[in-house]
Amino acid sequence: MDNTNIILKIEGLCKAFGSNVVLNNFNLELVKGENIVVLGKSGSGKSVLIKCIVGLLKPDKGNIHVFGTNMLELNQESLDKIRTKIGFLFQNSALYDSMTVRENLEFPMRRHWISLTSTEVKDLVEESLDNVGLLHAINMMPSELSGGMRKRIGIARTLIMKPQLILYDEPTTGLDPITSREIVQLMLDLQKKYHTSSVIISHDMSVAKLTANKIIVLLDGRNYAEGTYDELKKSSDKNINQFFEFAS
Ligand SMILES: Nc1ncnc2c1ncn2[C@@H]1O[C@H](COP(=O)(O)OP(=O)(O)O)[C@@H](O)[C@H]1O
Ligand SMILES: [Mg+2]
Repeated sequence: MDNTNIILKIEGLCKAFGSNVVLNNFNLELVKGENIVVLGKSGSGKSVLIKCIVGLLKPDKGNIHVFGTNMLELNQESLDKIRTKIGFLFQNSALYDSMTVRENLEFPMRRHWISLTSTEVKDLVEESLDNVGLLHAINMMPSELSGGMRKRIGIARTLIMKPQLILYDEPTTGLDPITSREIVQLMLDLQKKYHTSSVIISHDMSVAKLTANKIIVLLDGRNYAEGTYDELKKSSDKNINQFFEFAS
């Protein structure tokens, strides 16, 4: 692929588990600097989509290009290498409960950046925590953190490798509206600072409104509808406007 502005391109993605067809010809094109929000109800295949992108699940059919590289043709070593440029915020933040905040942040670096000195690791961990306003929590255990703090730590860990592509799986689910708003603002601030591009999986319309350059409605495993927030908000299709029912 010669268009270097395309960060992520998904073509004809299909994934089934036995007779449960989850993704059925899904397509997506993410341009540098933009955010795509994928809207879908619970169980519609949003997490499966993200796991296919990072290579945790193997698609049955289709193509996934990240930074122009076909993810499905890579050996394990090349896949690990390209994964360092992709940040993935898990749905539940996925912090290790037996590790301190500092250890949770060091963990992904030890795996990928063996060449770093301990001072460099320390600086990166502190920079990353500072970015999410939680430097003071560095020695805390995950059990001592609120939901919003856990999410911030998750974001700090996602960003520590300075990824160019960030995949957010339901970044605000389970948070109260005020904390959700703060998390969204943090996502936008960090995007501005590090010039990242994102796929944001959500069913929260305030997230979509504030972040999306484009929204894709995922239904029956495919792109049911696409458009900007304002375009989709005008739709009279009940499969689309049900997402906007509680939106401002
Ligand atoms: N590893 C798996 N094995 C079998 N079925 C799965 C697996 N992961 C997800 N599924 C199924 O795929 C469908 C979509 O799941 P998921 O992507 O987690 O939904 P959501 O949109 O809520 O994130 C569900 O029916 C789920 O049961
Ligand atoms: Mg999910």
